[in-house]
Amino acid sequence: MDKVDLIATAAFGLEASVAYELKQLGYTDQHVEPGRITFRADYTAIARANMFLRVADRVLLRVGEFPASTFDELFDGVRYLPWGDWLAEDAYFPVDGKSVKSTLTSVPAVQGVVKKAIADAMAERYGRATSPETGDRAKILVSLLEDVATLTIDTSGEGLHKRGYRPLNVTAPLKETLAAGLISIARWFPDRPFADPLCGSGTLPIEAAMIAQKIAPGKLRRFDAEHWPVLPAQLWRDVRTEALDKEDRRVEFDIQGSDIDPTVLEYARKHADVVGLGRRIRFEQTAVKDFKPTSEYGWIITNPPYGERLGTAAEVEELYRQMGEAFQADAPTWSVYVLTGYERFERFYDKVAAKKRKLYNGQIRCDLYAYPGPRKPRFTVLEMPTDLPTEEATD
Ligand SMILES: C[S@@+](CC[C@H](N)C(=O)[O-])C[C@H]1O[C@@H](n2cnc3c(N)ncnc32)[C@H](O)[C@@H]1O
Repeated sequence: MDKVDLIATAAFGLEASVAYELKQLGYTDQHVEPGRITFRADYTAIARANMFLRVADRVLLRVGEFPASTFDELFDGVRYLPWGDWLAEDAYFPVDGKSVKSTLTSVPAVQGVVKKAIADAMAERYGRATSPETGDRAKILVSLLEDVATLTIDTSGEGLHKRGYRPLNVTAPLKETLAAGLISIARWFPDRPFADPLCGSGTLPIEAAMIAQKIAPGKLRRFDAEHWPVLPAQLWRDVRTEALDKEDRRVEFDIQGSDIDPTVLEYARKHADVVGLGRRIRFEQTAVKDFKPTSEYGWIITNPPYGERLGTAAEVEELYRQMGEAFQADAPTWSVYVLTGYERFERFYDKVAAKKRKLYNGQIRCDLYAYPGPRKPRFTVLEMPTDLPTEEATD
């Protein structure tokens, strides 16, 4: 089968997690750069990457790449790429663009030239004066970086964070892809307890439970490339079958989410219900200061408010103080990972993190503060009974 060049885009700081996911899917021919992992694979990878990648933002098909420092070079380069191989005759193809360190700086002008060149190529291919654009969407992206143009078609459509389990609008939810990325960085495994004591609409517990039961992140949604004539419907059916085969609803786990706000917990329960996890994740209304895990050696992964979007500075500082007291006193064997954009977090949490990872929550620069817990002992040391008979006595 022919190979294609695909690009899995990733939020800054999550590239290694996406590269790892791709390797797990068998895509080892890859090149990792800031914000994107380019990989070469056969056509089925278009469907499989969209269906199974938890951390990537979207999957792009690279149609071509060439130097372009003038509009003529850009037009000619785009015009002779094989658009007709990918786009349906009536495809609706909006063009998005960006330009970094390049001579062509006007993004609207760049988009206009690309649009015209693709329209010309399509008109020639199908022998019509204009492209009707009445069909399914295929979003084109032109990226200029140091005078090299990369032309891609977005195979995902909606960003991959849109899993399809969050129909309800909530304040400041964590993106599902970032939540999965935090779980990946924290190296949580499903045999360990998991808690998010400030869980809001439940994104972290739901993503953790989906990982535990190997529920494909794309299971509940559709992708733009499903409409592409070049990709047979059977390919997508096969990938959906693969997703169902991989899923294992018998996996037991200990995952909980709590929050002070009963309304967001209602959302969390509803979202978990959509994935069929409603009864498996424990959601409880609890203030973080009262958080007391009943098990040991678990993982807390959480993103508390940090002033920019929710709460004043004094409120978040008091909250971090409460988190520090509760987690350090009542969960001493747990590993704790906190994502916040509040730079003085450690001061109020009253502990310096073992590691800090720079990440972005949307446009907001954040750090993931890591406090790995002690290792779980492999063997239980049995106390010697004190009333064993002495050697003399047994003689
Ligand atoms: C940034 S939001 C978490 C968003 C969540 N990760 C999601 O995906 O929806 C922070 C959450 O902390 C909760 N919270 C604030 N103060 C709290 C407290 N004292 N105890 C427990 N939860 C609290 C808020 O109700 C809010 O839902």
